[in-house]
Amino acid sequence: MTRFEYHGKYPDSKGKFGRFGGTYVPETLVPAITELANKYIELKDSTEFIDTLQEIREHYTGRPTPLTHARGASEDLGCQVFLKREDLLHGGAHKLNNTMGQALLAKMMGKHKLIAETGAGQHGFATAIAGAYFNMETKVFMGKVDMVRQAYNVARMRLLGAEVVPVTLGSQTLKEAVSAALRYWSAHSNDTHYLIGSVMGPHPYPMMVRDFQRVIGKEIKAQLSKRKITPNAIIACVGGGSNAMGAFYDFIEDKSVELHAVEAAGRGENSGEHALALNAGTEGILHGAREFLLQDDYGNPRESYSISAGLDYPGVGPELCFLAECGRLKLGKITDEEALEAFKYLSKREGIMPALESSHALAHAFKLAREDKASGTIVVNLSGHGGKDLDIILDKLDLENNGDHDE
Ligand SMILES: Cc1ncc(COP(=O)(O)O)c(C=O)c1O
Repeated sequence: MTRFEYHGKYPDSKGKFGRFGGTYVPETLVPAITELANKYIELKDSTEFIDTLQEIREHYTGRPTPLTHARGASEDLGCQVFLKREDLLHGGAHKLNNTMGQALLAKMMGKHKLIAETGAGQHGFATAIAGAYFNMETKVFMGKVDMVRQAYNVARMRLLGAEVVPVTLGSQTLKEAVSAALRYWSAHSNDTHYLIGSVMGPHPYPMMVRDFQRVIGKEIKAQLSKRKITPNAIIACVGGGSNAMGAFYDFIEDKSVELHAVEAAGRGENSGEHALALNAGTEGILHGAREFLLQDDYGNPRESYSISAGLDYPGVGPELCFLAECGRLKLGKITDEEALEAFKYLSKREGIMPALESSHALAHAFKLAREDKASGTIVVNLSGHGGKDLDIILDKLDLENNGDHDE
């Protein structure tokens, strides 16, 4: 087995993964970021932190999540397909792994308020769950456009007691929501923790969120090893990159396992309407970190697009940028149409409705199999449940009123 020396080396003491990552923040944010980085290092290995998080995972969020052998898909594709069922985590997506970890840390740091940004609403919902669980006042910044397309999650956040703050600047989507939350945090960090939802933003967020999501890959490894199976590939979709980093991290050093990072090609790469930061972005700074992003000639972030709001972000976490540059990742790109096909297929063939984000990872697995590039055992990280996307899906499939099934 060939090894890639990695664990314990990244990020370095400056929060860098090679030249990616770092802490590019205004003066006003330096004290808050420094306090967070120091406290995280101090508390993360304490018995109190580890035991409390373990208790929460086992008895509240519902870990370990199953690793399901997808029999129909395996038969159809000619390889063994396993699905890591983050859709079955409380809240319906992997996001809660991170929000419960960060909220626990915030509580132990003496903060009693949480703020978060959200695009799809899934991270905002997971933050609202954490806020309710830990009895912390919670504000979620959300672009006005996203509030309309993810109305179901807005309602769910409000029902859990969180305040949803509409952001009306720029494209009124996730990018502006992050900026608004960062601005708010710089003035309120004395009693407030900013709970970032992916492996993005300034150090220590990419490392910390990865650490909280790492449980996904650890469980995949243990669950496969129990069945005496070694995987050939792990496949995950990439928005900011947290479910992918979580699923990949424990396999990075073992080069016999292919790691496929799948981005949203939206209406097609050539249309310009996509979210292909790793596949087609250029290097720059976004939300406090050096990374690949979609940007114009002047270095301003460009609008991204995907049918799936959770993948609709113009940047991508710095650790994924580094791994891609090291050649440790294989990159995939899946269009809206391909993701919808994968959604339809899995729903009917396996009785599992994947989130549109996760449908991108599935569609990539199907593509690999069709091109004879998949063999042995492949694991697809099913990052979330499709319930939140039903309006969009029904609209697209034109099923609402006539009840017809298109085959
Ligand atoms: C179900 C689901 N999967 C994936 C993502 C993408 O985020 P990340 O790349 O951080 O895993 C989101 C984001 O909201 C999501 O809701």
